Amino acid sequence: MKIIVGSDHGGFKLKRAVVEDLKEKGLDVTDFGPETADSVDYPDYAKPVAEKVASGEYDKGILICGTGIGMSISANKVKGIRSALVHDTFSARATRQHNDSNVLAMGERVIGEGLALDIVDIWLNTEFEGGRHERRVCKIEE
Ligand code: RB5
Repeated sequence: MKIIVGSDHGGFKLKRAVVEDLKEKGLDVTDFGPETADSVDYPDYAKPVAEKVASGEYDKGILICGTGIGMSISANKVKGIRSALVHDTFSARATRQHNDSNVLAMGERVIGEGLALDIVDIWLNTEFEGGRHERRVCKIEE
């Protein structure tokens, strides 16, 4: 599975922790940036990351800003993207099972690193259930 991770300055520290954790687990992860904690505009990172997932170049994307809200709003503008803003483990599991979300958004100013890493782990390792949920996901695409 190929994973791409991006942030703005508000999510910079958590992005680094997520990338580090995924690398330690031996996963194929690309850090899209930014490379410093200087102020940037979150849509400039959300759009290209979302496009790379929508095109199939990457299987899943993770976007982090201060709240996760700007990142999820921006990513969901890209056709084919189902970005879920998640700050608890129940939703991390449910959004994979029910929504087949392909971009995870989180807010560094909302949750701690330990919970965020658990959310990423659950989100990456939970399969879409299909069935009745497939019909609903198709309706989103339509
Ligand atoms: C940046 O200050 C902040 O607005 C951004 O990280 C994010 O929270 C936007 O939704």
